[in-house]
Amino acid sequence: MGAAEELAQIAAEVQVCTACKLHRGAIKAVPGEGPADAKIMFIGEAPGFNEDRQGRPFVGAAGQFLSELLAMAGLQRQDVFIANVVKHRPPNNRDPEADEIAACGLFLERQIAAINPRVIVTLGRFSMAKWFPGEKITRIHGQPRWAGGRMIVPMMHPAAALHQPQNRPLLEADFQRLPAILEQAEREYEAHAGQPDAAPDKPDEPGLEQLSMF
Ligand code: URA
Repeated sequence: MGAAEELAQIAAEVQVCTACKLHRGAIKAVPGEGPADAKIMFIGEAPGFNEDRQGRPFVGAAGQFLSELLAMAGLQRQDVFIANVVKHRPPNNRDPEADEIAACGLFLERQIAAINPRVIVTLGRFSMAKWFPGEKITRIHGQPRWAGGRMIVPMMHPAAALHQPQNRPLLEADFQRLPAILEQAEREYEAHAGQPDAAPDKPDEPGLEQLSMF
């Protein structure tokens, strides 16, 4: 199966998924969207009010801001794949719970495997925790690390920067560095092929290496 067919298959499975309690209160599932050969994938938290109604990721205020941030990196929405850690809206936009994240985890894994992006940008703490458990976004935002043969770049969630405008310049600066990060990922990915994808138990283990240039 090609990447586009696999993504369509995943989306079809997400539409009918009842593996956790979130499907009960949701209107539409939000599998994610973007080209199957995207070089950059963004992973947010969960669908909100507008996403739940439209079945598309990041279409509300945070999504509008994400489009502006992408433009600062010379990118458009249609250039990148956008997904979330969980694919149904949590009630009243509460945080996704551990069992919900686990139930949706294989969908995200399969999306990543199908797209095989050079760079994954995690938006907010829930997607960050997949690769950087126990880390603080204030400490590591914008600092790419290699994992699973690709660069993982933790960034603040756009909604957090909208709520706390003092964080906006930090997020904008992180996005402005994305073209350089992608260039580096393209140059160096072969040297990192076959790396373990999971976060290491010890931060100085070789699987997840901190880059010195940033
Ligand atoms: N916030 C997210 O994390 N994801 C969306 O799709 C929308 C808002």
